[in-house]
Amino acid sequence: MAKKTFGIDFGTSTIKVYKNGDGIILLERNAVSTVGKERRPVAIGEQAYEMYEKAPPSIHVSLPLSRGVISHLEDMVALWNFMARKISGKKKLNRCQFYIAVPADITEVEKQAYSKIITKSESKPQKVCLIDKPLADAYGLGLDVEKSRGIMIVNLGGDTTEISILSLGGIVVSKLLPYGGNDFDRAIMNYVRKKYNFVIGLKTAEQIKINLVAAVEKETTTTVVGRDVLKGLPGKVTLSSGEIYPLVKDIFYATAAQIRSMIERTPPEISSEILHNGIYLTGGASFTSGVDQFFANEVNVRVNTTTSAQKTVAAGIGYLSEHPKLAARYAAPIE
Ligand SMILES: Nc1ncnc2c1ncn2[C@@H]1O[C@H](COP(=O)(O)OP(=O)(O)OP(=O)(O)O)[C@@H](O)[C@H]1O
Ligand SMILES: [Mg+2]
Repeated sequence: MAKKTFGIDFGTSTIKVYKNGDGIILLERNAVSTVGKERRPVAIGEQAYEMYEKAPPSIHVSLPLSRGVISHLEDMVALWNFMARKISGKKKLNRCQFYIAVPADITEVEKQAYSKIITKSESKPQKVCLIDKPLADAYGLGLDVEKSRGIMIVNLGGDTTEISILSLGGIVVSKLLPYGGNDFDRAIMNYVRKKYNFVIGLKTAEQIKINLVAAVEKETTTTVVGRDVLKGLPGKVTLSSGEIYPLVKDIFYATAAQIRSMIERTPPEISSEILHNGIYLTGGASFTSGVDQFFANEVNVRVNTTTSAQKTVAAGIGYLSEHPKLAARYAAPIE
């Protein structure tokens, strides 16, 4: 029987798992809550994230990936064990093959840490392959990676923004910037606490972001529940997009400046194709209202978006896992 093969995108916000033949079978928040010194996991995903900053001291909530790098390997392994059991039911995921997408612009040691999530887990893998994320992203977008002379992908993720240029099947340049959509959540949470003496969790802050944040100014309001610090009671606060925009606009301008400077430094035979086809936005933060129009104006380039932006890396790593000969051009198996 054919060996089971999985493609995984371990994102800072969400983990996406692709199973050969079935497509994307899991999209789960990258969070794990544990108890005790041995850090025994009690909840993962959305359920664990809900506990963030609300859990009693006996429960530790961990977000084990930050800024594209694994910050707590044991928690990440525990999280994967939990997920693997969820995927496989009673049977263990033994002797499967795993393709993992990793940021291109991190050190070799940091890349290898991703393979340890699997090799140190209960899933005894037959093979683990690491493939640079921008390549997976391009395949997930359905682009002709091997033949295109110039592809520019801007992946607006949770903790990171990855700007990459590909040409003829290779990565010309990739820059991992240490900010993303989650920074908006943190900025909103801090602002609401300072301005209104009102405590909200990160999940509520994310909801405010989804309702109010836009790359261009707009006028909308949203009401959220939280806890009034002065009264010590639950309450409501209404926020407007106008007051949130100053908290987030610098990130949009900084990203536009990075895109512009990368295009300017690219040889014309590559940049001309990028300018002809436009740049591609991927990652969950590309759902931010007006972000395509903003980059189009600031960089003076056509911008392509997709409704599957959060899943393109997983779709691409899945595609490569189903085409091992093609994948072998980009990565050597570790096991
Ligand atoms: N409709 C939306 N509007 C704005 N932001 C959104 C929307 N939906 C999701 N996001 C944001 O997208 C981010 C997650 O995107 P994604 O899953 O691509 O990140 P990730 O792959 O986990 O992170 P990274 O690539 O940085 O490691 C979060 O910050 C989330 O709040
Ligand atoms: Mg990502």
